[in-house]
Amino acid sequence: MRPQDFTALLTPAGQGLLDRLSREYDETGELDELAVAARLRRDHDPGLVSAALTQTALRRRAAAKFGADAAVMYFTPEALEQATSGPVAAHRAARFRESGLSTVVDLGCGIGGDLIALARTGITVTGMDRDPLRVMIARANLAALGLPGELRAGDVTETDVGGSDGFFLDPARRDERGRTLDPSAYTPPWSFAEDILRDGDGCVKTGPAVPRDAGPDGAEIEWVSLDGDLKEAAVWSPGLAAARRRATLLPGGHALTDEEDRVSPAGPVRPVLYEPDAAVIRAGLVGAVAARVGGTLLDPHIAFVCADHPVTTPFARGYRVIEELPYREKALRAALRARDVGPLTIKKRGVQVTPELLRRRLGLRGSRAATLVLSRHGRRAVALLVEPLSIPAG
Ligand SMILES: C[S@@+](CC[C@H](N)C(=O)[O-])C[C@H]1O[C@@H](n2cnc3c(N)ncnc32)[C@H](O)[C@@H]1O
Repeated sequence: MRPQDFTALLTPAGQGLLDRLSREYDETGELDELAVAARLRRDHDPGLVSAALTQTALRRRAAAKFGADAAVMYFTPEALEQATSGPVAAHRAARFRESGLSTVVDLGCGIGGDLIALARTGITVTGMDRDPLRVMIARANLAALGLPGELRAGDVTETDVGGSDGFFLDPARRDERGRTLDPSAYTPPWSFAEDILRDGDGCVKTGPAVPRDAGPDGAEIEWVSLDGDLKEAAVWSPGLAAARRRATLLPGGHALTDEEDRVSPAGPVRPVLYEPDAAVIRAGLVGAVAARVGGTLLDPHIAFVCADHPVTTPFARGYRVIEELPYREKALRAALRARDVGPLTIKKRGVQVTPELLRRRLGLRGSRAATLVLSRHGRRAVALLVEPLSIPAG
């Protein structure tokens, strides 16, 4: 989208088109874009029609990240993909607020996913981005949501970004070929993140694969999952750190830190099996979960915890172990067929199995759904028939 197309969307004519398309979408549940475009182009500027159609579709897609806010916000496809999900941004913003910072600069704010959440807490925000279109969109998004904030276009590595109590940085983790895991290819690069983490109070968002010792001495790394999906890691500067490693589970904000971490011994297969949340596993806090449920590890190197009794915990999903089945494919097929198993969920850890291929090779046609755990127990590969515990997370 060109900046002038976006500006046109903010005019009364653009707003009128957006409202009209949104109503049509709500009434019909979908839009035949070609037909709608042909009809609207008769009495509207074609560029504006095309921008309004794109924006209407993006708002629908953005509801997954931004909920009801998406209906009044503006996006580009790439900036929407890069934006932080509303609940994750809200959690982080609340942490900024609780730390007592009253002004925060967002260094590379994109269309404003995090900026909006920070502004909503009452923090005075300044957003910066080197992409002038994103700056315009972030400004419009704050305005559409009735939030205050200042926006500036510019390269944060070449500008004085001081003047606020704290900073937030969410580097673009992409190069010309797409997503990159190489921190030196982030923009701004990781070296910039390291410098500001050392010198100021703030937080840098990064990918969940960040090494557990990233950041300066005294920094905290927080791995965040949303509905069980691992979303990101955030490195907090030493001044705002409250632990070395933390797993935060959203919604709910359940947190586990390295203060609770224990070296957990391995033990036998027991009546209950726990699969820790992905944020817990990445944060290296499986031992803390084992301590909480009074369990032992299935294997010292694998993130399954075995326990005698079900315990309510938000940090792991629990399964009742029904029985151990043979690990060999032929005998496993026979055992599953004998139990009338059809749809099979396969959870594997520490073994070389491709669940889709195994499922196809097993060719089960029975009437009962089942869950199979494939893993290692010391030197032995194990196949455990399990069923999810129906204990609500507490
Ligand atoms: C991952 S996106 C930020 C997304 C944002 N946190 C959100 O939730 O919407 C990274 C942003 O940093 C901007 N950026 C990258 N390098 C920059 C630099 N050197 N100076 C300013 N902005 C930069 C990009 O244009 C992009 O909009």
